[in-house]
Amino acid sequence: MKRVAILISGGGSNMLALARDMAGDHPCRPVLVASNDPQAGGLARAAGMGISTAAVDHRPFGKDRAGFEAALLEPILQARPDILCLAGFMRILTPDFVRRFQGRMLNIHPSLLPKYPGLDTHARALAAGDAEAGCSVHEVTAELDMGPVLGQARVPVLPGDDAASLAARVLVQEHRLYPAVLRRFAAGNRDPLLLR
Ligand code: GAR
Repeated sequence: MKRVAILISGGGSNMLALARDMAGDHPCRPVLVASNDPQAGGLARAAGMGISTAAVDHRPFGKDRAGFEAALLEPILQARPDILCLAGFMRILTPDFVRRFQGRMLNIHPSLLPKYPGLDTHARALAAGDAEAGCSVHEVTAELDMGPVLGQARVPVLPGDDAASLAARVLVQEHRLYPAVLRRFAAGNRDPLLLR
């Protein structure tokens, strides 16, 4: 049984999709949900599912990323995760932190990588006139949003879309893609999964 820790910053709908999947017949179980925001809605949702939670507010650390990460590492190391899943975790991690979990840290990103790493992915896809958008799960490496892609799901861009309507359509696919990729990853399968 592989131990999975999930890092979130917000509502945690992707975390919930992962946790719900792990509640069934699954090679993994969630051992921790941690957030950089003590108010993150996902923390209460995780606790409601009986998952251990931790909050380490990044704000008192200011520009001291290493200090923040040292504090965040404490509950993570206590939970002894085999796999770390970033699910809407909106802090950039230092190369030191990433190295520690090299090969066992995943992230979900709301674009068809390598297109649109970083923020405002949906607005950028619309501005570019793309016919399709989507989401990617990738291995986390030191270069932001650039690790090997483990899976993608595509959606059409529809006439009249704005960033919010496109984000909502992509999010539905995120909730399918991330659990499917985690199952494969836990079984040692790193071949990219392409969902339609
Ligand atoms: C998701 O759309 C996720 O792909 C995105 O934040 C949202 C979190 O939603 N992540 C990033 O933009 C990472 N750069 P959630 O809290 O409901 O899962």
